[in-house]
Amino acid sequence: MVIKCLNKMHKVAIGFGLCFFVSVLATAQNTIEGKIISPDLIGLFFEDINYSADGGLYAELVQNRSFEYSPTDRQEWNPFSFWEYITPGFSYGSISVETKSPVHPNNPHYVVLNVEHVGDSGGVGIKNYGFDGMVIRAGERYNLNLFISQITPEPVFISVSLQNRKGKLLAESSFSTSSKEWKKYTASLAARESNDSATLVILATTKGMLALDVISLFPEKTFRNRTNGMRADLAQLLADIKPKFIRFPGGCLVHGDGLGNMYRWKNTIGPIEERVEQKNIWNYHQTVGLGYFEYFQFCEDIGAKPVPVLPSGVSCQNSGGTWRIGGTGQRAIPMSEMPDYIREVLDLIEWANGPATSTWGAKRVAEGHAAPFNLQYIGIGNEDKITPEFEERFKMIYNAVKAKHPEITVIGTVGPGQDGDDYIKGWKFANQLSLPVVDEHYYCAPQWFMDNLHRYDTYKRNSTQVYLGEYASWGNKLSNAVTEAVYLISLERNGDVVKMASYAPLLAKKGFTQWKTDMIYFDNVKICPSVNYYVQKMFSTNQGDLYFDKVISKETNDSILAASCIKDSKTGDIILKFANAGNQSKTLKINLSDFKRIIPDAEKTVLTGNADDENTFENSANVAPHVSTFKVSSKFEYSVPSMSLTVLRIKIKNN
Ligand code: AHR
Repeated sequence: MVIKCLNKMHKVAIGFGLCFFVSVLATAQNTIEGKIISPDLIGLFFEDINYSADGGLYAELVQNRSFEYSPTDRQEWNPFSFWEYITPGFSYGSISVETKSPVHPNNPHYVVLNVEHVGDSGGVGIKNYGFDGMVIRAGERYNLNLFISQITPEPVFISVSLQNRKGKLLAESSFSTSSKEWKKYTASLAARESNDSATLVILATTKGMLALDVISLFPEKTFRNRTNGMRADLAQLLADIKPKFIRFPGGCLVHGDGLGNMYRWKNTIGPIEERVEQKNIWNYHQTVGLGYFEYFQFCEDIGAKPVPVLPSGVSCQNSGGTWRIGGTGQRAIPMSEMPDYIREVLDLIEWANGPATSTWGAKRVAEGHAAPFNLQYIGIGNEDKITPEFEERFKMIYNAVKAKHPEITVIGTVGPGQDGDDYIKGWKFANQLSLPVVDEHYYCAPQWFMDNLHRYDTYKRNSTQVYLGEYASWGNKLSNAVTEAVYLISLERNGDVVKMASYAPLLAKKGFTQWKTDMIYFDNVKICPSVNYYVQKMFSTNQGDLYFDKVISKETNDSILAASCIKDSKTGDIILKFANAGNQSKTLKINLSDFKRIIPDAEKTVLTGNADDENTFENSANVAPHVSTFKVSSKFEYSVPSMSLTVLRIKIKNN
């Protein structure tokens, strides 16, 4: 009975987010005090930076599929970028980009082909080079979808193919047009050969005039075989982390480069031809094919809580590149437009959680997701400059969400750094509003992390909690990763104040990397998880909800050595972590005698090597965790290797 009672109390405490409680965990034989810590500490932060979405996680193979690229994205780009006009077999005709009768007003540009003469085995058409070529694998199928409007009366014969750079056919299909109205045509292309830099060729092989748009090619095998889905290998690597949450879609991408560039979630749902594409603040283009529906679905697929971040009503303070002159580029949504904007924020909650009978819930259902997405968190703002304009708008949004949806936890923002003006003003403002959580960001040298292991020890308990939404120590060496592990142990210790944490940025494409350092590097073919990735994975797959501070004895002034003992109440497992950022192994004494019935064979995972070791495309498993069995007893010693992270997972016998 006692056990039942105490367990129930524990659950209730977590349910109300009262992480400052000290819980008494009882077993039949003993009682030990543990501090309740956040069960959602480690998650992911995804932003479309470094070609993370288009050309990355989003599995679309065609680049500029809707002819919406423009000089706004990048000076040298236009609606026909990454396409080539082709007239094989001495054929001739003409091509133009038009906007008069688009497939949808949100998607204004399309291509018109006028086929005047078709030469021997030729035609008039277009070729797409993808994102530096398309990766095609023999035996796999590729799904082509495109919209065509036949302008001249006679049907036009269309041949579609995948070709290597020399024009060799790798897969092909064909069909005839049959409608003057825009109509979606589909073809399944079966690849006979593998190729890492294939092109897609669409050729009109009979005379006539036709308009084409939204030409999309996906591998049939995407993550969980979703249509409009994600690249399976990259998505799997993220799934393997088992993140408790995913924050998306940014970052600076959220508040945008000026008002017109803010990320507006409603533009990113529904059929892809109806989505509003726009410039990516990171100097490329967002198709928003990876939009809110896909983000939410991915979270659900991998068991992570969605944490969407919406603009707070102001744009990036560096809009127009004003970081050079002190970030004066913040623009604010006019007050007259704020009611509509607040509606947009509330509509997201309805879209995610509302019933089919609600306006926005019905849209989610229409997209194929009848059940609610169970949205619990919303981020408002990202690293915004804490100006009077920001404060006024944030407060309006926050009050509206709190009034209509008290069940939603709003996460505020306290500037772009570990300290400074916005940090101070942001925290003051958060305290005034009694915000439940604020989002801190810092990218610092490893030494900063070592010098700040006690940062959160002094934060006020029973008050606004912290989401460390973006952080990294500059570098991808093992020494960086172990530094982060030492710091993460300090976050576990402070898991009553630090509710969530996510390393940033997450993904970076080789040759398109705009921000160093990142967690996972990739190109079209390969992926290279950094050593930092493995630290995240070791923490994320070994999270708990109770922290015990008397289990591991340690000299208090040894900052390069950190250790923690937590318990995962769901599995009953005791989890010990040891991180040593020094160049000598160190021995720690562990006393588990308060935990009865421990199973002696524990699972030991160790990540270690030389301080300067990194993973590279050539040797992506240079440093990776090694799993083995380790004998534990109620009292034992563990020698923590130099430059290492160890996780010991100890099971408890049921009876
Ligand atoms: O993670 C990269 C960028 O760093 C994010 O967009 C922004 O929030 C931060 O400044």
